[in-house]
Amino acid sequence: MSETKPDLIKTLQSGIVRRGTDCEKWDTCEEGVMAMWVADMDFPIADGIQAAIEQRVAHHAWGYPMHRPEDDDSLIAYYLRNHGLSLSHEEIFHTRGVVDSLQLAVHALTAPGEKVVIQTPVYGPFFRVIRATGRQIVENPLIETESGRWEMDLQDLDKQLCGAKLLLLCSPHNPTGRLWEKETLQKVVDLCKKHEVYLVADEIHCDFALDGKKHVPILSLSGTETGVAQCVSATKSFNIAGLAQSAVLCRDREMKAKMVEKMGELGLNEGNVMALIATKAAYATGDCWLQAVKSIIRTNRDLAIPKLREAGIKVYPNEGIYLMFLDFRAFGLSSDEMCDFLIKNAKVRLNSGSDYGPRAEGFMRLNLAAPTDWVLKGISRICNAVKMLERKA
Ligand SMILES: Cc1ncc(COP(=O)(O)O)c(C=O)c1O
Repeated sequence: MSETKPDLIKTLQSGIVRRGTDCEKWDTCEEGVMAMWVADMDFPIADGIQAAIEQRVAHHAWGYPMHRPEDDDSLIAYYLRNHGLSLSHEEIFHTRGVVDSLQLAVHALTAPGEKVVIQTPVYGPFFRVIRATGRQIVENPLIETESGRWEMDLQDLDKQLCGAKLLLLCSPHNPTGRLWEKETLQKVVDLCKKHEVYLVADEIHCDFALDGKKHVPILSLSGTETGVAQCVSATKSFNIAGLAQSAVLCRDREMKAKMVEKMGELGLNEGNVMALIATKAAYATGDCWLQAVKSIIRTNRDLAIPKLREAGIKVYPNEGIYLMFLDFRAFGLSSDEMCDFLIKNAKVRLNSGSDYGPRAEGFMRLNLAAPTDWVLKGISRICNAVKMLERKA
């Protein structure tokens, strides 16, 4: 996609039809139902990534690949250019996905029965990776404020970290959409230091800070030379999740060694040849595409908010992800009931709040990463359908 930005936006606004391509987002929905759920975009990918993949496909050999330190040059340059974060090759290792990295961290840094803290509601696999490994979930609930934003309860975090081994942080936060401020993140780091708790930040959404704001990488904060890791991936930013790849950034040699050793023990590897090629191309050539995508997401969000509010749906404007958290509690249905209701009556599928733990009961999550006319069509279907429901509050 070598066009100038207006042409690029036009191309992206045409969208890409994914139904009928064994696509989880669309092909698990009945015909006629619009998929506005899983965090996957409906835009054609950046030309630079597609070209790199096609070039490799033309070579008819698919044996074991190798990964050299120089393969991370584009990631290092990208993080310096876009996030002001300086990294060295020794501080990086790769996994097949961010959820794999979280599970690996739990395995490597804690023992069965030990406490792992999460800030709820949160992306479902945060619960799963702790339960699946026989560790104990400790919740530090986020607080819903009158201003329509979610905040961390740092006083409670101070309590919950006592006796814990690991904090899994989601930054920016999925599903609340919060872009955490530097001061808040620094306090989280300081509390982890105080309690000698490992901190592993899932920063998969780090490239979607909107409104001219900046995401703050955890490793840019003071005190993160030890005990802290940052999980990143080109897959969410550039919509190549089907290729499965991610990186863990960690300045603490001992902590990194523990995780790398555990990877070997668990038989995990770094992903496939195509994933590495696409990741390199994304970080080297994708900036312009990503800017154009972000401008569409922002437009979609700003057009959607007043319509949803007018329909009586409480909205938490997304600040750092392309997903919007919606509060449907006024309609008196559970999240799962609301999900079914919307599929049946609006022909739109959103994520049920139940995907984010019990604290998201009554909430839903809406995906805005699609052409504007698709998003507006979905919103209008939702707003019309909720008119059938009686408001309880
Ligand atoms: C916060 C968060 N972490 C991790 C993932 C998934 O990462 P991966 O596909 O690399 O395992 C997602 C996907 O939406 C996510 O929202």
